[in-house]
Amino acid sequence: MHILLTGAAGFIGRHVLAQLLDRGHEVRALDSLRPDVHRSGAAWTTPRGVEAWVGDMRDAAFVAKAVDGVDAVIHLAAKVGLGVDIGDMPDYASSNDVGTAELLAAMARADVSRLTLASSMVVYGEGFGRCPEHGSVRPGPRLESALAAGDFEPPCPICARPLAVGLVDEETSFDPRNAYATSKAAQEFYAANWARATGGSAAMMRYHNVYGPGMPRDTPYAGVASIFTSALRRGEAPRVFEDGRQRRDFVHVRDVAAATVRACERPVEGVRAYNVGSGTPRTVGDMAHALARALDGPAPIVTGQYRLGDVRHITADSSRLRRELGWTPAVGFADGMTELAALSGEEPARPRTALA
Ligand code: UD1
Repeated sequence: MHILLTGAAGFIGRHVLAQLLDRGHEVRALDSLRPDVHRSGAAWTTPRGVEAWVGDMRDAAFVAKAVDGVDAVIHLAAKVGLGVDIGDMPDYASSNDVGTAELLAAMARADVSRLTLASSMVVYGEGFGRCPEHGSVRPGPRLESALAAGDFEPPCPICARPLAVGLVDEETSFDPRNAYATSKAAQEFYAANWARATGGSAAMMRYHNVYGPGMPRDTPYAGVASIFTSALRRGEAPRVFEDGRQRRDFVHVRDVAAATVRACERPVEGVRAYNVGSGTPRTVGDMAHALARALDGPAPIVTGQYRLGDVRHITADSSRLRRELGWTPAVGFADGMTELAALSGEEPARPRTALA
């Protein structure tokens, strides 16, 4: 197929590009090389035969040319991160939502009917928990006073009892808690509007916490695995926020890329969402210990610090992806951590090229 890949110079994009090429697809790779992610003036080299286009998704004329003649679009280009600073709201809305709206309008005009969209688990907010008395409940946002007092677990909204964690499935309603999450939820709604109006196919890939070779470091987009490896390489202890028992599903970037390529190759009927996780939640504390061991560094320090926009647990049920698209993750947690520890010193601080 001839595929337009947006965000092709990014962390996940570079792995998707490599896998698309391995599978014999023709790729038009597009990236804006945003200065907050990519070193300014850095060269972007792509493998021979790849059309590399530098431009902004909000530029309607550029996007119209970019979709011309392609069979399918994988849309990864976005401003990522936590969305902690309210001043960043306009940039999230503009980069992610206006950019996506321009893309969808251009796809409709060019009659391109297959979309694979990078979404995120953060659209679910706190997900749900199980109360011994009230059953399945949706916890509200955690209060700053509770966090400051070290009460990190979100309580039952009815009786304030502690909750057991539930795995969210794709039918769980959205509850975005920060500007990034809101912009991802809006992207999904725009894509669903487009699919209904045009008869197009849209797969929403709700990624969990992605890690692996090429992870952004020393940028606002650095995830916790990257922050911990950087600290350990400096000889410092990883600093674990809250009490370290917050849970995430750390999924390897090659597995995420494989799921994305698979969704693009097998278009869904209408709109379908897929949680993309390893299926094995871990605590942030566990990850800090695994990396400290792999890098033979100092033991993690649990700081009790917190970030207001953080949710406590993000753990999803990714069985739909396995069932419907035949995907299984290939990289286990222990192997992934070992690889990350071995690679982190060799990776560029900021990705400079499309392929390492
Ligand atoms: C991550 C992604 C987000 C994605 C989401 C999907 C990043 C930066 N964010 O969000 O784009 O949509 O997964 O599930 O990759 N922590 C520490 N010490 C630190 C930094 C963080 O303990 O120095 C803790 C945080 O408090 C949090 C956890 O690590 O509990 C994960 O944080 P982070 O890597 O920033 O990712 P998410 O917020 O889960």
